[in-house]
Amino acid sequence: MTETPLYTALLSHQSLRRASFHTPGHKSNPAALPQKLLSLDYTELPDTDSLFEAEGPILRAEEAAAALFGTKRTLFSAGGCTLCIQAMLRLAAPCGGSVLCSRVVHRSAVNTMALLGLTPVWSMPEDLCAAVEQHPDVKAVYLTSPSYYGELADIPALAAACNQHGIPLLVDNAHGAHLFFTDPVLHPIALGASMTACSAHKTLNVLTGGAWLNLADARFADGAKNAMSLFGSTSPSYPIMASLDYCRAWLEEHGRAAFTQLQARVHALKTALQAMGLRVLGMAPDDSPLRWDPTRVTVDTASIGLAGTKAAERLRQAGCEPEYADSQCVVCIATPFNTEEDFTRLETGFRELLRHAGAPLPAGNTIAQLPPLPPVRASLREAVLAPAESVPLALK
Ligand SMILES: Cc1ncc(COP(=O)(O)O)c(C=O)c1O
Repeated sequence: MTETPLYTALLSHQSLRRASFHTPGHKSNPAALPQKLLSLDYTELPDTDSLFEAEGPILRAEEAAAALFGTKRTLFSAGGCTLCIQAMLRLAAPCGGSVLCSRVVHRSAVNTMALLGLTPVWSMPEDLCAAVEQHPDVKAVYLTSPSYYGELADIPALAAACNQHGIPLLVDNAHGAHLFFTDPVLHPIALGASMTACSAHKTLNVLTGGAWLNLADARFADGAKNAMSLFGSTSPSYPIMASLDYCRAWLEEHGRAAFTQLQARVHALKTALQAMGLRVLGMAPDDSPLRWDPTRVTVDTASIGLAGTKAAERLRQAGCEPEYADSQCVVCIATPFNTEEDFTRLETGFRELLRHAGAPLPAGNTIAQLPPLPPVRASLREAVLAPAESVPLALK
């Protein structure tokens, strides 16, 4: 065989045997998914159904998910949460118009709005509720919740504001597919959202690429498959779809107990990190448990003089792979498929960080510290699709 650069790189990463605090949520734990999934890589056959024309086992699997989540309709995506976001925007604004958007959105939403010719009306996240009153004619209100750091928007307040004007509330819940199983229940569908895009693969035992589009508003159910098929591949992966189905059955049986246990383990870890002197987001005495994902571990390492990116490097040396780091924080995703050894290793890794602690760093440019909204000089579609060249950010 000739060289296999990617396959070889993955094997070599695997041989490091780092504790995974990143996506996918299954953590390659053999208890998470049946090992025979790979052998189920089939296609549309008379007895395997077809995702965008589902009328057999795929439809029944989707209906079982809808019953568990209490939605009017739940649809499978093998194209990640991105495909669900594309479908949500298409469903809410099929003929163009404006969408009131929180400033912090994933690039998939920006790209979809450009492709669909939608006009975003940007709002700083903290002003979104008030902005609904000022823009009652928008086709939808769109936001991301939870944030990468695990912070949740005030969905009940936003849902109430949207309901008053009959505006659908669309939530990119990429990082919160598991929030039906936390205590308290924090899933945006349970709190009043009209539609959510949920990256099941990020925090649950689903293969990468598996996601759910959840519809609480029956008005959108009929067009949903068409909206998904507008953007989706005609060859969705059966192992991914089967993992969504398996995960739903697992959640029915084990979800509540597994997340109760995870929440307690994560809380113990965060308490230990705080006792070491680390600032853990969501753990301040005045932080509301309704506003933070209890399973997310976000540590502000700048407060001990270490950029998040530096801290992540040191955690890697200690045998842990975090999900994300910026100049201020390091973010770890914990799921029921992390082992006790993973948690012990992470705690030890953070303890070792403290040997490199110094004076707090000045606040950097993180996703938590947004610059103000700039003036609009071009439509989003022009800005995204026009010919472009890269220029240095600092010109002087
Ligand atoms: C907030 C947010 N939304 C959407 C996405 C897209 O999700 P997916 O990779 O499942 O398409 C991501 C991926 O990282 C994300 O972080």
